[in-house]
Amino acid sequence: MIVTVTSYKGGVGKTTTAIHLATYLQTLAPTLLVDGDAIRSATKWSQRGGGNGLPFKVVSHAQMVNHIRSYQHVVIDTEGNPTDDDFKDLAENCDMLVIPAVPESVATDGLTHTLAKLHTLAHTRHRVLLTMVPPKPRTDGQQLRDALVAQGVPMFVAEVPRLAVFEKAAAEGVPVHAVKGDRNGTRAWEAYEAAGREMVDG
Ligand SMILES: Nc1ncnc2c1ncn2[C@@H]1O[C@H](COP(=O)(O)OP(=O)(O)OP(=O)(O)O)[C@@H](O)[C@H]1O
Ligand SMILES: [Mg+2]
Repeated sequence: MIVTVTSYKGGVGKTTTAIHLATYLQTLAPTLLVDGDAIRSATKWSQRGGGNGLPFKVVSHAQMVNHIRSYQHVVIDTEGNPTDDDFKDLAENCDMLVIPAVPESVATDGLTHTLAKLHTLAHTRHRVLLTMVPPKPRTDGQQLRDALVAQGVPMFVAEVPRLAVFEKAAAEGVPVHAVKGDRNGTRAWEAYEAAGREMVDG
């Protein structure tokens, strides 16, 4: 399947989500991650791991043409704030559009814009994934979920907690379950594993 991770909002966990959904899909079949961001965050993540910290191959958009036929699954990481034309192309050329959203008012403005755009495209194969969800007793995550569900927005049941182990994973160039000495690695991974399972199972 072709999975595209996008949002009009920057810094919402797109690259972290692309890396971990690709990690999940790779457990099922050969998976390629296409780094569609000019900053090349996903490429740098893989380089920090010495080229073998991630269990899948990362290529640029231009390189994709040469690699795509060898892979069953493709995950595309994109840059924040795409043009409307780029957004339309991304949305219309994938099997699943994953939209990470952080439960904070500032972040949700970009989300509203993203959802309005999808509405004009009548796009149905998209789902919002709550990321960086603060721990209890804060209820920000549940509030955003309730608001989106009330608007009929398709959502992943799984949600990704806000955990420092994700930053360690990026720094070490590995998926979150490979970070040593942080007991939250498993919990962090299980969130993306659950989201990946939902995505594949429909
Ligand atoms: N669940 C999480 N818990 C804590 N920190 C996180 C989580 N997910 C991502 N982060 C951190 O938040 C920052 C932004 O994440 P990321 O780079 O994945 O976002 P992005 O949407 O790809 O950003 P950009 O728009 O710049 O491409 C990074 O420092 C990342 O390590
Ligand atoms: Mg990014």
